[in-house]
Amino acid sequence: MQRHLITSAIPYINGIKHLGNLIGSQLPADLYARYQRARGNEVLFLCATDEHGTPAELAAAKAGKPVAEYCAEMHAVQAKIADGFGLSFDHFGRSSSPQNHALTQHFAGRLADAGLIREVSEKQVYSNADGRYLPDRYIEGTCPNCGYDKARGDQCENCTKQLDPTDLIDPRSAISGSTDLEVRETKHLYLRQSALKDDLNAWIDSKSDWPVLTTSIAKKWLHDGDGLQDRGITRDLDWGIPVRRGDDDWPGMEGKVFYVWFDAPIEYIACAGEWSDANDGADWERWWRTDKGAADVRYTQFMGKDNVPFHTLSFPATILGSGEPWKMVDHLKSFNYLNYDGGQFSTSQGRGVFMDQALNILPSDYWRWWLLSNCPETSDSEFTWELFQQGVNKDLADVLGNFVSRVTKFCRTKFGETVPKGAEFGQLETELLTDLNARIARYCGFMDAMEVRKSAQELRAIWVAGNEYLQAAAPWATIKEDEAQAAMQIRLGLNLISLYAALSSPFIPDAAKALQKAMRIDEQNWPVDAKSATSLLRPGHAFSVPDNLFAKITDEQRENWQEQFSGVRT
Ligand code: 2FM
Ligand code: ZN
Repeated sequence: MQRHLITSAIPYINGIKHLGNLIGSQLPADLYARYQRARGNEVLFLCATDEHGTPAELAAAKAGKPVAEYCAEMHAVQAKIADGFGLSFDHFGRSSSPQNHALTQHFAGRLADAGLIREVSEKQVYSNADGRYLPDRYIEGTCPNCGYDKARGDQCENCTKQLDPTDLIDPRSAISGSTDLEVRETKHLYLRQSALKDDLNAWIDSKSDWPVLTTSIAKKWLHDGDGLQDRGITRDLDWGIPVRRGDDDWPGMEGKVFYVWFDAPIEYIACAGEWSDANDGADWERWWRTDKGAADVRYTQFMGKDNVPFHTLSFPATILGSGEPWKMVDHLKSFNYLNYDGGQFSTSQGRGVFMDQALNILPSDYWRWWLLSNCPETSDSEFTWELFQQGVNKDLADVLGNFVSRVTKFCRTKFGETVPKGAEFGQLETELLTDLNARIARYCGFMDAMEVRKSAQELRAIWVAGNEYLQAAAPWATIKEDEAQAAMQIRLGLNLISLYAALSSPFIPDAAKALQKAMRIDEQNWPVDAKSATSLLRPGHAFSVPDNLFAKITDEQRENWQEQFSGVRT
């Protein structure tokens, strides 16, 4: 039995995620976790909310709530929606947990002991009216390069020039609009990533099987320009993990917190501690410490491409620098972007379809199937309502749903709701089973390799093979001459439904469950051999005709949704 540790990038707390976020990490991670469990492997699948940083503070302020209260509420909201999508986390944690506080401070202490942290004095903009330091992107002003009057302190959106806040003409707070700003001297901690450059390089080079998208991004940051930069890991904010050196105070760092990107990936580990505390002290270190049983764990991370630098450089620098035997990622699966109807999904602009809205209009399997089978794997991909309608109607309704309905209804009419016995398999059946064996092997190969689109294509081909068989065997014609032969064809058809339930369960778990229920299957092993898998339901086994599995999306529905989701969410 293999052991798989699987993490999905942890979503920011400020607001409900859109479908682009979902397909960029959580959903493919869930596909893989479900598949590995179904193969009988031991899985620990973790995710959490990413709760620190200025955006969380501002979102709470906008909601008129204390930030801790806002985060607790939004965590519950996100957890419920994740559940609605069938995301099968073993634990959905919080980066603000006490476990993550302790672990983040522990890592900082270890890094300091190893001489990998330096203190830097910086000039930073303080807003008297807001009573806080302003992160660069929360300072606005006129661009010295092009004159655009809404340039941000880190970059001008109009001419793309990288800026320092002090470059801006007539700077003002983006939070309050106040111009009562002053530059203050403040001290911060920097992680000396540059000192770990060779170690990181060697580690990345050892990952020959990583997708090109992942390694090319990592290498670019490692070697481009001045190479790997040291990175500030503290901030002057109220909300976050207080800067401490392990259990000790850090003189001069009072009132400061760790930078959100320092503590967020550490939450992958802390989340296992949360999981343990929620599960009678289950042994989490056997998943995370190579000296305590994690050496044989295979660790896979899922994320969007914008997250890759943090996972290939910064987080590994934290772990390597600690000098402790933490498990490091074995495989890093990254995704491009899903676009929405000719533009981008955007949380800040409320553009696209958000997870709660999606569940309000259709069951999760419709979304899971379409998003996974069209995921932005080798390039960006695009959601349009037409493509969505086509994909759902063709694959789910016309192919899978139709097969199930024809077979079960025909059987009910001609033989009743039990599996009929009939003749032995003939040549057509043997050919089908040979074909299915090859396809199942290919499907498993793609799933093992996390080739999401190819897996979906192969699964669809497996459904199509059943339809083609049914068309060729034509039990409705056979029965007129040879009832035993027709019974055998239908017995195979019913068994194919059972096969499909098992193979489809990682993609469309609810439909798979409905099929198992209709076929009265309690427990099912992963089918590796089509012949034995299609003799699971013995003659005499009772079943029932399932309710219509997938309803087609009508043109009218499509047009309505197109209209409804064309604007911005307020
Ligand atoms: O991009 C994001 O949504 C980040 N919140 C991902 C963090 S992943 C990790 F580092 F924990
Ligand atoms: Zn400009």
